[in-house]
Amino acid sequence: MEEKKLRSSDWFGRKGKDGFIYRAWMKNQGIPDYEFNNKPVIGICNTWSELTPCNAHFRELAESVKRGILEAGGFPVEFPVMSLGETLIKPTAMLYRNLVSMDVEESIRANPLDGVVLLCGCDKTTPALVMGACSVNIPTIVVSGGPMLTGRYEGKSIGTSDVWRYHDDLRGDKIREEELLTIEAAMCRSRGHCAVMGTASSMACMVETLGLSLPGNAAIPAADARRKVLAQLSGLRIVQMVKEDIKLSHILTREAFENAIVVNAAIGGSTNFVIHLLAIAGRIGVPLQLQDFDALSAHIPLIANLQPSGKYFMEDLFYAGGLPVVLKELEHFLHGHCITANGKTIKENYKDVQGYNSDVITSVERPFNAATGLAILKGNLCEEGAVIKPSAASSHLLQHTGKAVVFENIEDYKARIDEEDLEVDETSVLVLKNVGPKGYPGMPEVGNMGLPKKLLRKGVSDMVRISDGRMSGTGFGTVVLHVSPEAATGGNFSVIQTGDIITLDVPNRSLTVAVSDEELQQRKKQFTALPPAAERGYVNLYINHVQQAHLGADMDFLRGSSGSRVTRDSH
Ligand code: FES
Repeated sequence: MEEKKLRSSDWFGRKGKDGFIYRAWMKNQGIPDYEFNNKPVIGICNTWSELTPCNAHFRELAESVKRGILEAGGFPVEFPVMSLGETLIKPTAMLYRNLVSMDVEESIRANPLDGVVLLCGCDKTTPALVMGACSVNIPTIVVSGGPMLTGRYEGKSIGTSDVWRYHDDLRGDKIREEELLTIEAAMCRSRGHCAVMGTASSMACMVETLGLSLPGNAAIPAADARRKVLAQLSGLRIVQMVKEDIKLSHILTREAFENAIVVNAAIGGSTNFVIHLLAIAGRIGVPLQLQDFDALSAHIPLIANLQPSGKYFMEDLFYAGGLPVVLKELEHFLHGHCITANGKTIKENYKDVQGYNSDVITSVERPFNAATGLAILKGNLCEEGAVIKPSAASSHLLQHTGKAVVFENIEDYKARIDEEDLEVDETSVLVLKNVGPKGYPGMPEVGNMGLPKKLLRKGVSDMVRISDGRMSGTGFGTVVLHVSPEAATGGNFSVIQTGDIITLDVPNRSLTVAVSDEELQQRKKQFTALPPAAERGYVNLYINHVQQAHLGADMDFLRGSSGSRVTRDSH
């Protein structure tokens, strides 16, 4: 194969003053120039942060990646980017996903990198890094941080989905605050991200299915020594990818995206997957629409028995053989010829794998849940669409008509949800507005709003809930999310009122309100837009440019790619 000129040689291979400057300051790190001159320079894009507990082990993981890069004859350079810790960051990590993607894109393009390894873990860190890298499009491989070990409490396996259950138990006076302290210590008992099929795990499965990581990446627990082995092998492989010039655009074809959608449905993956995949497709230039998710998911059986849709945890998925076993089981639904990071097709990667627990990874013929993982709704309540996860919903509510109880924003919800005289019963439909991309801003994970205390005490465990926000991938219930257009933009959802009759019909994919078009138009005349949440800074930029959920909530000016070429050279 003809050796392609290394991108980094435009820095380190230069003569005269420019080359002097590029090399001399690298040498202050005690590095001889043969180390980085004429070798593939590989960036390790690290979201390590002690404020992102799920990614707190990433410096160690980076060391393993470096070993692989050095072993293959490359030169590793680790660099930090903004990290997003789902649990600590306020008002919501999603507000900053696009900002991180800009950090990643500009950091890669501006520096002498021939290839890049993306260290991803907690929810948004994966899409943000992949989005940014797509807009540059150099050889790239993803190493995920891996899930935590399964939590154990009073002899039971517990994980992040139980947070919502325990919270309802607390509000329903079934447990005391002190007990929660014991539970929280028992749940997060190792390094790694959430151990259920929440957003972080869904994202790890997404990158493996897309072909952006080595096989097996999704499920190896963070605490398992094999996670480091995978990191080292990924370092080894990226150097080869540079030599073979395998770019993201070679891997991320329309067929690869279709594979990812199929797999997300089969594993009961997060609803957030929809929004992130749409954004990634927008960056790499693959046409993908919200409706594609329904068309490709509707007939896909749920075969990974994982919380929140099922029973088990990521650790169990790993022991059962990992994602490659799921892929093999789904082979009739997948495009087997899609190329992956290791240079093989996805089919070559899974063809010889074996499953070890048919209770965790069931078969297509005998899925553990008849409901599919994802459905896209349309109707006069969500003109551009909305998302629901039927596999995590209550089957008796999938076709339901009820009176709306509307909360204008999250503060209104918090103030009134537990009022004893709130007119609500288990047939009501809870509606939460102004938690969309622009309205909140940042589209927080509040869509699975807690039920009214008085109904919890009666033993009610689920109700239909609708919002323009998102839900944690670990959440569950009959929860309609991502209503588009969001309330803040003045669409029909903006003018829904308490007492309106709403019908959710998942089998027929519709979400409607029994209010005439004339009446909706009339109400819209009274609509007044919220004042902007910020007059300056990133948040102001975000509000003015973020697109609606059905387009992936990316910023309008970030769609597409600018390539890897640096257009001006000041030295
Ligand atoms: Fe980081 Fe769940 S909080 S993955």
